[in-house]
Amino acid sequence: MVYTVRPMTENDISQVSRIERDAFPPPWPATNFKRELRYNTLSHYFVACEDALERKDATAKINSSGSSKKSLNDRIKAFINRMLANQTLEASQDEKVLGFAGLWFMADEAHLANIAVRLDRRREGIGELLLIAVIDLAIERQARFFTLEVRASNKEAQALYGKFGLIEVGTRRGYYMDNKEDAVIMTADNITSQSYIDGIRQLKQAHAA
Ligand SMILES: CC(C)(COP(=O)(O)OP(=O)(O)OC[C@H]1O[C@@H](n2cnc3c(N)ncnc32)[C@H](O)[C@@H]1OP(=O)(O)O)[C@@H](O)C(=O)NCCC(=O)NCCS
Repeated sequence: MVYTVRPMTENDISQVSRIERDAFPPPWPATNFKRELRYNTLSHYFVACEDALERKDATAKINSSGSSKKSLNDRIKAFINRMLANQTLEASQDEKVLGFAGLWFMADEAHLANIAVRLDRRREGIGELLLIAVIDLAIERQARFFTLEVRASNKEAQALYGKFGLIEVGTRRGYYMDNKEDAVIMTADNITSQSYIDGIRQLKQAHAA
């Protein structure tokens, strides 16, 4: 299966909102994606998609590049270049959005605002692909920390973050308004260090394989 990660556009909002509603059902407040995309210059939203055309020539792509690893790295690199060039991309009508992630930059911190994958497409590596993309962007932007809050009960997400070197550094008591659940604060420090970059490279290779 071939997935693409690219910046979210307004054309993606209806699919992304459905994924968000399934992942964070009310009373969790829905993100105003239009406002985020149009006006929040500190935020960057991305989607992972399955493209009908990509699906068709997936085998050819893997064969011609010699390995799926090269193709994945190339796609992530191309995505970051588009982000840095601040290009607006139009969503293809053939694309099915499988997941999304939002990243905020604040001073030397890259903060994961949210990440979610379609209910019926979890455990296929899509969450990991999105996390690779946002961490790559944080590294490109020379952020020092990569940080986030996650519900204390959300062990699946904590396992994902732990895999990418984020460690628990504290707790916000009663952070979640709906049930007063604690938030665990997780951080990866010094993400531009060679050792962290090497670790991410290994994870990318394992993911591609
Ligand atoms: C968290 C979430 C984004 C993970 O997405 P995903 O595409 O299913 O995850 P992946 O298939 O890429 O899994 C990557 C890693 O995450 C961890 N993980 C994901 N789902 C897991 C589960 N059900 N149980 C245990 N670990 C899990 C594992 O470490 C896994 O690595 P592995 O396959 O080597 O074991 C997805 O479960 C989701 O959308 N949850 C609802 C929204 C949410 O809670 N977001 C986080 C808010 S802080």
